[in-house]
Amino acid sequence: MWGHVLISIVVLLTSLFYHYHFSEPASIIDYPETHYDYVVVGAGTSGCVIASRLSEMSNVTVLLVEAGGYFGWTSTIPLLAPMMQGTEVDWAYKTEPQVFSSRGFNGYRQNWPRGKGLGGSGQLNYLVHSFGRPEDYKRWPKGWSHADLLPYFQKVTDIMNVVPMPEEEYLTKAFILAEESLKLDNVSLRKAMYTAKRGSRWTTHHAYLQKAWNRKNLHILMNTLVTKILFKNNNIEGIKVMYKNGSIGRIGVRKEVILCAGTINTPQLLLISGVGPISELEKHKISVVRDLPEVGRNLFDHLNVPVYVNLRERVSITLVKLQTVPEVFNYFTFGTGWLATNGVMGLGRANNSGLLLFGVASAEEKLLKTISNFETETYRSLFPSYNDSMHEGFIYLVSCLQPKSRGSVTLRSSDIRDPPRINPAYLQDSDDVTCTYRAINFALETLNTRLFREYGAKVHIPDFEECRHLRPDYRDFDYSECVMRIAGLTGYHPCGTCRIGAVVDEELRVKGVSGLRIMDASVVPSPISGTPNSVLVAMAERASDIILDRSFN
Ligand SMILES: Cc1cc2nc3c(=O)[nH]c(=O)nc-3n(C[C@H](O)[C@H](O)[C@H](O)COP(=O)(O)OP(=O)(O)OC[C@H]3O[C@@H](n4cnc5c(N)ncnc54)[C@H](O)[C@@H]3O)c2cc1C
Ligand SMILES: *[C@@H]1O[C@H](CO)[C@@H](O)[C@H](O)[C@H]1NC(C)=O
Ligand SMILES: *[C@@H]1O[C@H](CO)[C@@H](O)[C@H](O)[C@H]1NC(C)=O
Ligand SMILES: *[C@@H]1O[C@H](CO)[C@@H](O)[C@H](O)[C@H]1NC(C)=O
Ligand SMILES: *[C@@H]1O[C@H](CO)[C@@H](O)[C@H](O)[C@H]1NC(C)=O
Ligand SMILES: *[C@@H]1O[C@H](CO)[C@@H](O)[C@H](O)[C@H]1NC(C)=O
Repeated sequence: MWGHVLISIVVLLTSLFYHYHFSEPASIIDYPETHYDYVVVGAGTSGCVIASRLSEMSNVTVLLVEAGGYFGWTSTIPLLAPMMQGTEVDWAYKTEPQVFSSRGFNGYRQNWPRGKGLGGSGQLNYLVHSFGRPEDYKRWPKGWSHADLLPYFQKVTDIMNVVPMPEEEYLTKAFILAEESLKLDNVSLRKAMYTAKRGSRWTTHHAYLQKAWNRKNLHILMNTLVTKILFKNNNIEGIKVMYKNGSIGRIGVRKEVILCAGTINTPQLLLISGVGPISELEKHKISVVRDLPEVGRNLFDHLNVPVYVNLRERVSITLVKLQTVPEVFNYFTFGTGWLATNGVMGLGRANNSGLLLFGVASAEEKLLKTISNFETETYRSLFPSYNDSMHEGFIYLVSCLQPKSRGSVTLRSSDIRDPPRINPAYLQDSDDVTCTYRAINFALETLNTRLFREYGAKVHIPDFEECRHLRPDYRDFDYSECVMRIAGLTGYHPCGTCRIGAVVDEELRVKGVSGLRIMDASVVPSPISGTPNSVLVAMAERASDIILDRSFN
C-alpha cells in the first residue's frame, strides 16, 4: 500500500536479515510436560505480563499457551498496523448485524480485529497510550481504585516506553493551541502519547515476554488452541488443547489456570467449559459446571464517528508524502519520520467527549474500506480524499467516552472454532446519541481557533442519502444522529464480558470454582475514558502481585 515497490524491497531485505539473526528462545517448546504449577491461556497484552511475572519465581513452573505464532515483521512499523488486519495474525471477528448503528456497513456488521500470536491485540493495535481519568475507577470494586492502581501506572509508564509524538508538528501545534484559546472548563487537548522504541512498536511482547523467554521454568507453546478448561468437582484440573497438527492433548495444572484470552475468547472458553448462564449452556447441550449468569454480558466499546476535516495548507500526512525516498530512507536508517509514528497527533477530551486527531489525509481506499467493512458509498461520502492521494486533511475520531449501551458475547455453537456471536449494541441507549452529539460539537469548536483557521480547516459534510431530508450541518442534532448511526466505527476497545464483581471476585478468581482466574480486557467493569491497553498492563502487574501473594513489587 503506502509505497508499494520501495517499501516491499526494503521490507524483504530487512526481514531476511532479521530472520537470519534470530535464534529460537529456549522457552519455546513443541512438547509440553504433563503438569505445570501455572498455566496462562493467551499471550496477548495481559498474558505476556502474567507469564513473565510468575516465572520470575524460579521455584514455580509456568506454561504459556498461545493460539497463534510470531507476528511478522510488518508489526514493528507503527504506521503500517492496519495492514495486519484480515491476515493470519487476526482472529478477524465480525459483529452481529447491528440494529441501532452500522447502517453504512456491509450487512450492518462491523469488523472486529483481534490479535492472534505472541503479543495479541497489543501487537496489531495503534499504540495509543492513556490511563483514562481518575473518575473512571470510582465505582470499580475494592483494590482497583485509581489510588490503588497509581503506583502500577507509574511503573508501567517506564516499562512500556511511553513517548510523545516526536517532531514539532503543524496539526499537533494547532490542537494544543486550541486548548488555550477555548478556555473552557475541563477541556484537555494534548499531544498524543504512544508506546514505541526507536521508531518500532513496543508491546508487552517486547517489554515482558522477551525478558523472560529464556527462563528454564517458563515454557511457551505456540500455535496451540486451548479448547476447554477441565474441572473435577469444580476444582481446576488442567486444560484441553488442540495442537497445530490437529491432535488433542491434556495438560495438568497444580495451582492455577489464568485466562488471558481477551474480551471475546475468554467468555467463549468459559461457556464451552460449562461456566456461564445456565440457559445458554443448556441451549448448546454443555454440561454445567457452574451457573454464572453474567459471563458474556456487559460488553461495551467506544464508537468513533470519523469527522473529516479538509485543509487548505499542506500540513497533513498524505499518501504522496509518505511514498518518498527520504521518508522511507529515514525510517529504515534512523527510525524517524512518519512511519515511526502511529499518525495520531492529538488526544482531547471535555466532560464525556473524546477526540482523537489522526493526521493522515488519505489512504488507499481498498485497505481502509476492507478493514472497516464500510460500504463503498459510505466510505466515499465520509472521506473526500478517497480518490486523491494529494488531498490535504485529517480525521477527527469523535466518541462518547462513557457509553451506557451494553451488549454481549454468546455462543454460536459449542465448537470453539466457531466464532461466537458478538453484539456490541452500539447506540442502543439514547443517552449515547446525545453524548456523541456533544462530542461532535466539541470537535467543531476546536476548529474555530487561530491555527486551524490559518490552515484553512473546514469540516467535510458527508452526503448520505438517508440523511438528505435533514439540514446538512453537524450542529443539527437529527443530522448528527443520522450520520453516527450510519458511519460510527468501532474504537477497537471492547471490554467487560467477565467483569470484576460479577464473574470474578476482587482477586480475579472466577466465582464458584477454584483454581481459575481471569486477567484481560474482559474483567474491566466500565469504560476507560481513553484507550485500554496501558491500563491492562497495569492491572496485569497488580494481578501478578495478587497471584504471588506479594505487595506492590
Ligand atoms: C486494531 C486495534 C487497534 C487498537 N488500538 C489501541 C490503541 O491505540 N491503544 C490502546 O490502548 N488499545 C488499543 N486497542 C485495544 C488493545 O489492544 C486491547 O484492549 C488489548 O490488547 C487487549 O488485551 P487482552 O490482554 O485483553 O487480550 P489480547 O491482547 O487480545 O490477547 C489475547 C490472546 O489470547 C490468545 N487466545 C485467545 N483464545 C485462545 C485460545 N482458546 N487458546 C489459546 N490462545 C488463545 C489470542 O490469540 C491472543 O494472543 C486496539 C485494538 C485493536 C484490535
Ligand atoms: C502432534 O503434535 C503434538 C505436540 O507437538 C505431539 O505430541 C503429537 O504426537 C503430534 N501428533 C501427530 C499425529 O503427529
Ligand atoms: C517459592 O519461593 C518463595 C520465596 O522465594 C516462597 O514464598 C514460595 O512459597 C515458594 N513456592 C513454592 C511453590 O515452593
Ligand atoms: C468538570 O469535571 C468534573 C468531573 O467530571 C465535574 O464534576 C465538573 O462538574 C466539571 N466541571 C464543569 C464546569 O464542567
Ligand atoms: C462540560 O459540561 C459542563 C456542565 O454540564 C458544560 O457547562 C460545559 O460546556 C461542558 N464543556 C464542553 C466543552 O462540552
Ligand atoms: C474524485 O471524485 C469526485 C467525484 O466524486 C470528482 O469530482 C473529483 O474530480 C475526483 N478527483 C480526482 C482527483 O479524481
